[in-house]
Amino acid sequence: MILVTGGAGYIGSHVNKQLNRNGYETVVVDNLINGHAEAVKWGTLETADLGDTDRLRFLFDKYRFDTVFHFAAFAYVGESVNEPAKYYRNNVVNTINLLDAMREYDSKRIVFSSSCATYGVPESVPINEDAPQKPINPYGRTKLMMEQILEDYNEAYSIEYCCLRYFNAAGADPDGDIGENHDPETHLIPLILDAAADESKSICIYGTDYPTPDGSCIRDYIHVKDLADAHVRAMDHLVRSNKSCCINLGNGTGFSVLEVVDAVKRVTGKDIRMEISPRRPGDPPELIGSNELAGKLLGWEPQFKDIDTIISHAWLWHQKLNQGIGSRE
Ligand code: UFG
Repeated sequence: MILVTGGAGYIGSHVNKQLNRNGYETVVVDNLINGHAEAVKWGTLETADLGDTDRLRFLFDKYRFDTVFHFAAFAYVGESVNEPAKYYRNNVVNTINLLDAMREYDSKRIVFSSSCATYGVPESVPINEDAPQKPINPYGRTKLMMEQILEDYNEAYSIEYCCLRYFNAAGADPDGDIGENHDPETHLIPLILDAAADESKSICIYGTDYPTPDGSCIRDYIHVKDLADAHVRAMDHLVRSNKSCCINLGNGTGFSVLEVVDAVKRVTGKDIRMEISPRRPGDPPELIGSNELAGKLLGWEPQFKDIDTIISHAWLWHQKLNQGIGSRE
């Protein structure tokens, strides 16, 4: 039996679907603070908070998980700066609770949702896994701490881990079953889609004075379905090799904010109003991940590399959400 913490969230729900499609049985544990019960269309949903250690033990006792996928975490960079206590408690302390339950009930392996935010401002791109990890905000520091805790628990208690460092997760399930649904939404692509869907809205471009060809920030957008595929491969890799590892998951290609706006115009056929705003604090100019190691260890190659395809899936989902399908109501 597989545990998926945070499986009602954006990336967790896509991984939960993929696991079930591949014939695995899953239990999603989510406190539904940011997750959506209706995103758990596969497996069993248990509403629980990882801060509740008694309930956690009860669930481990009930299901005897052999593998854990750990997504449950707060993930707003700006909020983490203003409310670090919330982030250290929910992300770090609750991960320790989870790992201690794994020790107690002899769960063997964990696939962990890490982030390119652990690298901070990279010295060069594409970023390799051995690049220095110097996060520049509390959110990134919690993810790095969790990686370090996993390393120590592996050494002392033989729990095998695979840390997957995502670049910018984007897109939606190509079947249209699930997709991105954050509240508040802060991510670039859904916000541009909001502006495409409603001409009274505009997209704020956070800075056009970066040292990049068009002055806007460059990011590596990776399709959430490709991320889901990589997670299942990471579990298989752990089972096969019994070797813990940290792996970047990105496309290896960057797009500037202005290029993403152009791509949304192409895909939707809509005009998009833009406002140029000052830089958002804490945004590195350019993040692009090398995916060489993922190819080597996991045999993983992104299937939806094209930015227009990523956006077209996100757009289909966005229209569904606007019609109230897939939303809480
Ligand atoms: N951006 C805008 N306008 C907006 C929103 C975003 O110009 O309204 C820009 C940002 O400045 C950034 C790019 O679009 O340059 C992408 O921003 P997102 O907020 O979509 O994504 P981030 O790159 O900030 O964040 C992602 C993940 C985080 C993770 C971070 C690591 O969502 O969880 O990468 O840097 F921490």
